[in-house]
Amino acid sequence: MSDANNSILVLHGPNLNMLGVREPGIYGTQTLDDINERLIALGNELGVQVEHFQSNYEGALIDKLQERANQVRGVIINPGAFTHYSIALRDALATVAVPTIEVHLSNVHAREEFRRVSVTAPVMTGQIAGFGPESYVLALHYMASQIKRE
Ligand code: DQA
Repeated sequence: MSDANNSILVLHGPNLNMLGVREPGIYGTQTLDDINERLIALGNELGVQVEHFQSNYEGALIDKLQERANQVRGVIINPGAFTHYSIALRDALATVAVPTIEVHLSNVHAREEFRRVSVTAPVMTGQIAGFGPESYVLALHYMASQIKRE
């Protein structure tokens, strides 16, 4: 594995800062800090560095992608509700050259009809949904395995 740059950018969209408090029956009791700490620790085990960022603002997520996505080896994003309608975020993701994975804590395909539509998924490498915080963990394993293969 090249040690030049093994960074993975993990982005969390709107309301994910409220995890632990927000609808725990759907999203669980772990906080965003718990998830980020777990990803950083797992990254250390797998030999990748996790950079994380959360915003409730579409533009802030797009700015972060524009600043960082081409400096890292992969992008994992839970776009939250932006998944379902943000063409601007989709366009930003479409310009990212490295692998991109959309993650959701809940199984969006088994919920309200509006959540079954993802405007972002078609421009992503893939999507992982429905495994709670494990959705991020699975995505990080994929990213680390891809970096090892390169
Ligand atoms: C979510 C699903 C979205 O529909 C919702 O708006 C969220 C969280 C998830 O992780 O399950 O904010 O992305």
